[in-house]
Formats: sequence, structure tokens, C-alpha cells
Amino acid sequence: PFHQAFASDSSQVDTIAHRGASGYAPENTIAAFDKAVQMKADYIEIDVQRSKDGKLVVIHDTTVDRTTEGTGYVKDLTFDQLRSLDAGSWKGEQFVGEKIPTFDEILDRYRGKIGILIELKSPELYPGIEESVAKELKERYLHLPQDEKIIIQSFNFESMKKMDALLPYVPIGVLTSSSTDTTEQALKEFSAYADYFNPSYGIVTKDLVNQVHSQGMKISSWTVRSQEAADFLLSMDVDGIITDYPDYVNQRN
Ligand code: G3P
Ligand code: CA
Repeated sequence: PFHQAFASDSSQVDTIAHRGASGYAPENTIAAFDKAVQMKADYIEIDVQRSKDGKLVVIHDTTVDRTTEGTGYVKDLTFDQLRSLDAGSWKGEQFVGEKIPTFDEILDRYRGKIGILIELKSPELYPGIEESVAKELKERYLHLPQDEKIIIQSFNFESMKKMDALLPYVPIGVLTSSSTDTTEQALKEFSAYADYFNPSYGIVTKDLVNQVHSQGMKISSWTVRSQEAADFLLSMDVDGIITDYPDYVNQRN
């Protein structure tokens, strides 16, 4: 990885709005991302997948069943089919009409306004999705060292190795909830291509934070849905907190 600007101010933690400010608005919609901007989060976190006809879309589950009125796998539905679904109603009547966003519209709407933490969700279902994501970033010159905050992360480590090779200047993160990934050897291997080690908060300890830092990586942890969890991670001195409720971090930060 190209380690840029990592002389971080350790007193400052990044507030990362998980699927947008998803405690307050339907996850992975413009409503949730706008809310995150309004709440002065530092980043939005988005989950990227691909339609049957090759369009990159922003949705968390690999099926549309939980967050829309439709059924079926994202990968088996065309973009027009996905776009016709209502992704807001399940969260409340005031969100009727929210759509599944596209990756390119999120880049265009939010670049320069708020950082974007891009998760490749289940990339093993989408052969070549790394190249498609790289293409969208390159078209916008977001692949070069720059001030606009872009990070790419995944639970799929092979996919992140590939992403690092495609976009050497874009920071890469690995996601895990497994303590077997926290050994010194494992962290050293991640540091060959990753800039962030991003664990679930259940496996975060002060020792882990120190070990990640000593391997030259940063650590952002997830998913905060209570003030207690936010306070715990603040006390661990992590670099970023990925939360459904940006205010839980901002008011103590
Ligand atoms: O950003 C980390 C977090 O989003 C990983 O879990 O299931 O919410 O995508 P998930
Ligand atoms: Ca995610």
C-alpha cells in the first residue's frame, strides 16, 4: 500500500456513518447519506454490489428481500428491476420513494463533501467487480493521491489484494470479526496490501490497537449502535468508529 498522510492526529477519531446514518434513515439510501452529511460525520460507509446487467449498486444484503418490497438476489435482477423498488418504506412512511442508489451517483453526489468508505460486499459473487469499481474511480481521478477521502474495504482478502494492485494509491481495509486474524503474523500479512485493519468491536483490545499501529495500519471498528459501544471504542483509541448513530461518537469526540 501507499501510506499517505498517516502521521495522524491521534486525538481525532473519524466518525463513519454505517450504511449512512442508518439509525435515523433507511440504510444505503440518499436519505441516510444526506443525514450523515448533515450530522457532520467524516465518512459514509456504503456496500457495493452489481446488477445482472452490470451496473454497480449500493445495497447491503445479497438479496433485496429485507430492505425493499421485492424478492431475489441482487445479481439476478436487472438495474431497471432494482431501480423500480422502494428502498425506504420499510424504515417508515416518510421514506417512501427512496431508491437503491448507484455507485456512480454516490461518488458524484458526495465526493468532496464527506469521505466515502466503499465496502465490496460478497465480491466473490461478482467476478470482475474490482475492475468496475476501479474504472468508476479512475474516470473521476479519485484513484490518485488526493484530498478527497476514499477507502475500499472487504471481508474478502483476495479481493482487497487485487484492489490494491489495481489502485495502489487508494487506501485498502480488511474486515474481520475473527480473532484468528489478529495474530502478529496475520497482521503482518495484511499490512502488505492493507492500510486499515477493521474489526468488529467484540475483538478490540488496547493491545490489538497497538499491534495494528505497530504494523503501520490504522484501525476502524464496527458496528456501534449504543453509547456504551461508542465510549468503549473511544477509550481504545481506535482511528475510526463505524456507527449507525454518528452523534454517539461526535458528542464525546
Ligand atoms: O463497515 C463495516 C461493516 O459494515 C461490516 O459489516 O455487515 O454491516 O457490512 P456489514
Ligand atoms: Ca458494510
